[in-house]
Amino acid sequence: MKSTMWSRRAFLQAAGAAIPAAFAFKADAVERALSASQSVADKTPDEVAKDEFFWREIQLGFKLDRTLINLNNGFTCPTPRVALEAVWRYMDMVNMLPVHYQGMIAKNAETIRLRMAAEFGCDPEEMALTRGASEALQIAQNGLDLQPGDEVVTTEQDYPRMLTTWDQRMRRQGIKVTRIQFAVPAGQDDLYRMFEKAITPKTKVFHFCHITNLTAQLFPVQRLSRLARSKGIVTIVDGAHALGHFPFKLRDLECDAYGVSLHKWLLAPLGNGCLYVRREMIPKFWPLQAAPELQDDDIRKFEAIGTHPWAIRAGLGEALAFHQAIGAERKAARLRYLTLRWANELKQHPKVKILSNLAEPAETWGVCAVYIEGIDVRDLAKFLMDKYRIVSVPLVGGAPPNQVFDYQALRISPNVYTTLEEIDTFVTAMKDAADNGVPSTQAAADVSPFDGVLWANLR
Ligand SMILES: Cc1ncc(COP(=O)(O)O)c(C=O)c1O
Repeated sequence: MKSTMWSRRAFLQAAGAAIPAAFAFKADAVERALSASQSVADKTPDEVAKDEFFWREIQLGFKLDRTLINLNNGFTCPTPRVALEAVWRYMDMVNMLPVHYQGMIAKNAETIRLRMAAEFGCDPEEMALTRGASEALQIAQNGLDLQPGDEVVTTEQDYPRMLTTWDQRMRRQGIKVTRIQFAVPAGQDDLYRMFEKAITPKTKVFHFCHITNLTAQLFPVQRLSRLARSKGIVTIVDGAHALGHFPFKLRDLECDAYGVSLHKWLLAPLGNGCLYVRREMIPKFWPLQAAPELQDDDIRKFEAIGTHPWAIRAGLGEALAFHQAIGAERKAARLRYLTLRWANELKQHPKVKILSNLAEPAETWGVCAVYIEGIDVRDLAKFLMDKYRIVSVPLVGGAPPNQVFDYQALRISPNVYTTLEEIDTFVTAMKDAADNGVPSTQAAADVSPFDGVLWANLR
């Protein structure tokens, strides 16, 4: 095994040596990832997941603060340098003569729509580029015609902003919103049955996450979409955490609308998202900002948001190239490998409980929730930060319109640049906390429901 790794190392060095030294030093993240991928082309994703030489090449694509251990990558992820530099470049360019270059980049960015659609499995005419998942999902949520009394079925563990959006429609237009509660981890069949049971003759919309932002609970998207379609119900899926995280094709989900946060797992520059809308459904959704009638069945109507920084969208092209250079399967396998490395070790401790499903076939990749019996997660997060400089997020349920849940957990989310050493430090820190306890803080003892919401929103 060792000799294979060394020979691969030699291959990478040889690849570098074949080109002029100055250029080799400047090799960007995409080139590094591509040549690393070439060198493991004969290996399965699970084999590559364990290959630290491969992942070292990927890690070098980022400028990070390694004085901190970032295990909250479910928030917004660092973008690879190559994508960040592209944003700077396009910003410079636009600034020279905005009226000329903005329009030009807007036109050129059509190539990004084509590439996104090809990578994630839909027609380019079904792919709108947005500034994040909130925008994408609110287009779908606010864009549907609903009458007073019409019903939306969603869950208590959907994203707070999306729940607030339904809540506002409820207050404004008198629609009814049913929020399903479920214990975690939940089985796919159970989730299906809960939605099936919640249907009434007035149900017009199903809204749920592909995976939640809390415990990464996976939902049976295709089965729920088929059920919905058979009853004339529209499905809006929150894919903020799913696309670019683990492989699937949008068209296979069979949902009507799907919103994504591309600054999460695709590692795009901050301010990128997308909205997939099934072609026949495009005329059924109004855009959030008005568009001419001529555009009724044009996916671009959802992008009509006035002047905005096109440089950020142009940088998405590089993030996508980086993702493709690593390979979606290799990336998912690595994220699962990192998660299983800490979760399998910690779950043996009698006080540690895992709230995400670790079993095969895989339902958990880079996001997993954990708690230690008897320790408030806010205290635990503070302890991890104070003593080990580990960044995590404590999850504590709030009150409607926010998420409601009766567990506490730390959400742990590594990424492609996370090292094994960082994962192992987390394991050591958690064992320290479980065995020796952590200082308790006033913040946890006195928390008001409002504070609870704030904690839960820190992601
Ligand atoms: C499940 C879920 N939906 C929607 C969003 C909103 O995404 P954005 O911040 O890109 O608007 C998030 C962000 O954390 C999320 O986790």
